[in-house]
Amino acid sequence: MEVTWYGHAFFKLETENDKIYVDPFIEGNELCPIEVDEIKSADYVTVTHGHDDHYGQAVKICKNTGATLVANYEITVDASEQGVSDVEPMNIGGSVSGEEVKFHMTEALHSSGALGHQCGFVIETPELNVYHAGDTGLFSDMELIGEMLEPELALLPIGDRFTMGPPSASRAVEMLGVSQVIPMHYNTFEPISQDPEKFKKLVGYEAEVIVLQPGQTHFSRGIE
Ligand code: NI
Ligand code: MN
Repeated sequence: MEVTWYGHAFFKLETENDKIYVDPFIEGNELCPIEVDEIKSADYVTVTHGHDDHYGQAVKICKNTGATLVANYEITVDASEQGVSDVEPMNIGGSVSGEEVKFHMTEALHSSGALGHQCGFVIETPELNVYHAGDTGLFSDMELIGEMLEPELALLPIGDRFTMGPPSASRAVEMLGVSQVIPMHYNTFEPISQDPEKFKKLVGYEAEVIVLQPGQTHFSRGIE
């Protein structure tokens, strides 16, 4: 799987047959090196919650590419009203299956504005299972997420203030039992300034910490 980070919580996960965009925050994301119209093809867009820095340009991308929007019920209703034709509404504890990928919606400790409840996703693909935690504080059921959904790679917020900071994110790595982690949701704005090396140090030998530059792609094989 190719994992590209575009700053903040915005990622592209690309498998042999699917392009999945998560939390496509482009307008207002100064770290993001691409424009929304540069995204010419997408199979799925997933959104963790209704805040602008996550819902972002999801509607535009779905309309431009015909991608399926996977999100909580309230967000899919809002997107449908804005003209998105292909939506998969779901909620926490549930899963939605595509041809090769499966989306599991997980809890997140945060808020979500008017658009339903905030969440995270474990995205199961033939190549790798990835946990995108969304915006969240630390919660002990991350251990259960690790046990039951077996993610190998975690995308975790480390920016503090609105989400976990490095100490709690490093505990999350331990509880999830993942072998690889990519930090996110930091250095987009001054209040979430963070040194990812500090997080790396706290994780230690627990997992491989991959610090990406915005626009950089990591090729992940998971555990053989
Ligand atoms: Ni948020
Ligand atoms: Mn956020």
